[in-house]
Amino acid sequence: MSKLTVKDISVEGKRVFLRVDFNVPLSSEGEVLDDFKIRAALPTINYLLEKGARLVLASHLGRPKGKVVEELRMAPVAEQLSRLLGREVLSVREVVGDEVQKAIDSLLPGGVLLLENLRFEPGEEKNDPDLAKSFSYMADLFVNDAFGTAHRAHASNCGISAFLPAVAGLLMERELLYLSKSRENPSRPVTAILGGKKVADKIGVIRFFLEQADYLLLGGAMANTFLRAQGFSMGSSLYEEDKLGVAEEILQETESKKVKILFPVDVVITEELRSGASFKVVKAGEIPEGWSAVDLGTDTVRLFKNAISASKTVIWNGPLGAYEFPPFNHGTEEIARAVAYSGAESIIGGGDIVAALQDLGLAEKFTHLSTGGGAVLKFWEGKTLPGLDALREKSGAMR
Ligand code: 3PG
Repeated sequence: MSKLTVKDISVEGKRVFLRVDFNVPLSSEGEVLDDFKIRAALPTINYLLEKGARLVLASHLGRPKGKVVEELRMAPVAEQLSRLLGREVLSVREVVGDEVQKAIDSLLPGGVLLLENLRFEPGEEKNDPDLAKSFSYMADLFVNDAFGTAHRAHASNCGISAFLPAVAGLLMERELLYLSKSRENPSRPVTAILGGKKVADKIGVIRFFLEQADYLLLGGAMANTFLRAQGFSMGSSLYEEDKLGVAEEILQETESKKVKILFPVDVVITEELRSGASFKVVKAGEIPEGWSAVDLGTDTVRLFKNAISASKTVIWNGPLGAYEFPPFNHGTEEIARAVAYSGAESIIGGGDIVAALQDLGLAEKFTHLSTGGGAVLKFWEGKTLPGLDALREKSGAMR
């Protein structure tokens, strides 16, 4: 994989338009609740600052759909970034315009400016060439470090590369290194763990891992749909009625594959989904009406752990139970510890599971935690990622 990154070109004194993915959760008081994605961009930012570049950082936040939404302004993100960098980060209340131009003109080498939420501009998500051109006037060089938006074709990650030299940032490089290895030449045996609520979001990824993995472990509410498709009664558990057909098809496909697919054999059930609610453990298929499956049972945890301990690579997307309501985080936590201490290369993707692993204080134990949500799923599915294609076309990067 040859690639062109910030390290392959001269950046000294240059104005750099650095596309980052600072789409972070905010509290109702407007504080950054989880700065994982901001910290992930620090290697690129620090590298460019050490070289004396002048940085114009650009990100979206939430989905304001082309309008100014006060709660989605970037100011709290600028404050958090400033704390992490230990230096001033200028922030403006516009994406483009006179205020922005003045701030850019005032930037000295080593200076940092964060633009307002890119999605306040209607042209951003339309990949409007005029907006892309306006971005290009702000800089001498475009650096894309926003792997999390690689599945979007927007003005700030695609359009702009038509007008400026374009290279990848160090986070983008790291993401592609680990995700490509997990997809193309992982050390075997490979265990893929897929959880989360919806089968609908993961059909392509399930199909990919049916071909590529040695073990495929399914948990979370998504597994309920597969259990129902096998004829189990699910009580009041969440499952997708309209995806039972797809689940049946996938189950049939599995019969001709070498992959060993594992579903929960027992489940934690509760009558009310709230933290601290009482629960019991029953065999899958023995869930009474009024009760819902919300976590892996003890036998399932043991079964999943056996597959993990036999593997050299573990790839994981999606929590395995209603982890936001303890004690229904227990299965996810047990499996997280098993993966963390298995010695296997571990590649974790998707916002929910990455947040859960951080809450458990285990983040450092995994080989790679991806910043991508939708982008990671599309990458594993083998779908086109316009943000990466734009970089490749421009610079031969990451071929
Ligand atoms: C993410 O959180 O996955 C990225 O920031 C992309 O956000 P989006 O799904 O709103 O484009």
